Amino acid sequence: MPFALCQTQDAVLIASVMDSSVLRPLVAARPAAPLAGEVVVPGDKSISHRALMFGALAVGVTRITGLLEGEDVLRTAAAMRTLGAEIWREGADWLVAGRGLGGLTAPEDVLDMGNSGTAARLLAGILASHDFFSVMTGDASLRKRPMRRVIEPLQACGAVFFARPGGRLPMSIQGARDALPLTYRLPVASAQVKSAVLLAGLNARGVTMVEEPEPTRDHSENMLRHFGASVSVERAGNGRVIRLAGQPELRGADVAVPGDPSSAAFPMVAALLVPGSRVVVNGVGLNPLRTGLFETLREMGAELTVRNARVQGGESVGDIVAEFTALNAVDVPPERAPSMIDEYPILAVACAFARGTSRLRGLAELRVKESDRLAATAAMLREGGVHVEIEDDDLIIHGGAPAGGGLVMTHMDHRLAMSALVFGLATDDAMRIDDARFIDTSFPGFVALMRGLGARFAGP
Ligand code: S3P
Repeated sequence: MPFALCQTQDAVLIASVMDSSVLRPLVAARPAAPLAGEVVVPGDKSISHRALMFGALAVGVTRITGLLEGEDVLRTAAAMRTLGAEIWREGADWLVAGRGLGGLTAPEDVLDMGNSGTAARLLAGILASHDFFSVMTGDASLRKRPMRRVIEPLQACGAVFFARPGGRLPMSIQGARDALPLTYRLPVASAQVKSAVLLAGLNARGVTMVEEPEPTRDHSENMLRHFGASVSVERAGNGRVIRLAGQPELRGADVAVPGDPSSAAFPMVAALLVPGSRVVVNGVGLNPLRTGLFETLREMGAELTVRNARVQGGESVGDIVAEFTALNAVDVPPERAPSMIDEYPILAVACAFARGTSRLRGLAELRVKESDRLAATAAMLREGGVHVEIEDDDLIIHGGAPAGGGLVMTHMDHRLAMSALVFGLATDDAMRIDDARFIDTSFPGFVALMRGLGARFAGP
């Protein structure tokens, strides 16, 4: 799975260099001193995927500042190049010369989306309304994840999909010649499915409509408008109805990618848990549909403040100051899940140190992430001596002062790996993880950044 990024004069090439059978264990131990310092985390993963994809569909050049150079996003870059877009790096920026809507070309080879569900599902939407044949696959984790949730709505535009039993990758896609616009009510709160439908609708005549029962991250809607599409959003009960006018003139645009709040969560929670710590994370995206974790940590009593709140490239951004706090348990309602769906493993770690019993409700979607995150998060905490229960789709965590000392299996899941390492910074005995390699999918440089704050991680 992993890549190296090799720059040539006018192109960025991605080459597989590592033997994926070699695990990289790592041990986290309580640091001798509090964590302290000021950091910037890598760019937002969701926004980075979209910037590359939308840039490839636009006419003209898109300049992306702060792109996440994590493996998931590099997979998207590689796929869009295989489909005919030119993508290269200029200094720290990434540039995309798009093909124009409907202008992508048939790939000569299989599109390998690595570990990334977002890359696979959003791209399936794009391919559904491009009249050519393609085949998509992914790594062992992605090949287990459900694709039927996008196949079903996308078929209605005229695309033909074949997938492995259960709607698993690899799958083939014959895109529609004249795609029909879609009208779809999401059965699950998923920004990936919403975005796949909207992206198919880009190259369909007429208005595509998606209704979501609960609001999910709206980066697609925001960025499509930024590239010149007409997108309207209306409230409908607790959710929203999004309408996209098909076949817009998408024009290349500048995109400034904020720091990923899902990545900022790790140094932030580490600071809350290691006595005496104070950490500042600068330039973090604070889109209100992504800030469920901040809200929850504040309910737990966390010393978290936002400085320099500003709007950057159409997204809210701020600097977050996190200081050690004795946390209290929390009861998180199910409707908050979409705004913090990727943050439950690290929230669970915070709950393990909180006074009292926490209940995180309505986590069915965690079962179909990079791993079964509900089971794997519970197993991680148990390894460290925490009393945890799963009741239906709720995670119940009896907080206290966990002893640590266990070995956490990370199941090719970056967020579990980072959560377990943060866990080990606050337990009496060190925590070990079986494999740190997948951290690079979303947070390249995590280990060095945390060590810079004073974290003790032993290993290669
Ligand atoms: C994402 C949406 C979420 C999230 C994923 C990124 C996106 O998935 O878990 O990491 O960029 O749209 P779902 O929308 O499927 O819940």
